[in-house]
Amino acid sequence: MQTPTKPYTLIDGRKISIEIKQEIAAKVAERKQAGKKIPHLAFILVGDDGASQTYIDNKVKACKDVGYHYTMMRFADTISEEKLSKHITAVNNDEDVDGFIVQLPLPAHISVERITDRIRPDKDVDGFTNRNFGSIISKVPLLMPATPFGVMELLRRYNIETEGKNCVVVGASRIAGAPLSMMLVQQGRATVTICHKYTQGLADYTRQADILFVAVGKPGLITGDMVKEGAIVIDIGTNRVEDRSKPSGFGLVGDVDFKNVAPKCSHITPVPGGVGPMTIASLLLNTLRATELRHP
Ligand code: GUN
Repeated sequence: MQTPTKPYTLIDGRKISIEIKQEIAAKVAERKQAGKKIPHLAFILVGDDGASQTYIDNKVKACKDVGYHYTMMRFADTISEEKLSKHITAVNNDEDVDGFIVQLPLPAHISVERITDRIRPDKDVDGFTNRNFGSIISKVPLLMPATPFGVMELLRRYNIETEGKNCVVVGASRIAGAPLSMMLVQQGRATVTICHKYTQGLADYTRQADILFVAVGKPGLITGDMVKEGAIVIDIGTNRVEDRSKPSGFGLVGDVDFKNVAPKCSHITPVPGGVGPMTIASLLLNTLRATELRHP
């Protein structure tokens, strides 16, 4: 007879992000009362990629929810790198803008590296610049990379201890896996293994994980047999898949085969509603921090 599986805890990023937004809204109201500057977040969107538009819509809504000022700047996908750079310099120098983001992906003719490094680090609320990446190992971080910052906050608010734990991070991207790994080591005191597309025998690593983080962008990459019994699984993947039952015609799935993995876990994040809303909450937290640094 099969032993019944223990129910897992669903890590509710949506709920936590609402709590964070309420905390931020209260701070904005306090600043307003005290006659201090209201945070102003600007968005730069190049081209008309549908997914990017959805992400930006969600970020704009979050600004409205907490009472931030915001500016939307759109450019055609034919814009040259030089012209885009000039716009970034203008936003860098705009005294009223406290933080801004350049939504990715950018068209192929524009270098993400060069564009990202044009952003003033103290306005880089995505935490994408090299300065902010390095900030992870600083005693006084400037602005944390938003996605891993959101993941760490989610663990903290669910009282998930990382010290001495075996953490396996699948994916070594600049915006998620690489900074997350460093945060887990530095702030989380974890033992960290980073796996990526060149890793051989991926399952041999993932099965060792007390906490497994996945940020690759491949639906169904992590299957039930790749996770140890009782593990905690954090799915950072956000993949658009066709879903004719939805008015938009698509749905979101992560990198984890949720149906078969969840019954083995003690905790797991859903997609949507897990890490995604936390990235937006981090963006808002970073914008508040950027504003407080400029206008204490
Ligand atoms: N594209 C996908 N995720 C992100 C993000 O967190 N920030 C930006 N700027 N672009 C993205």
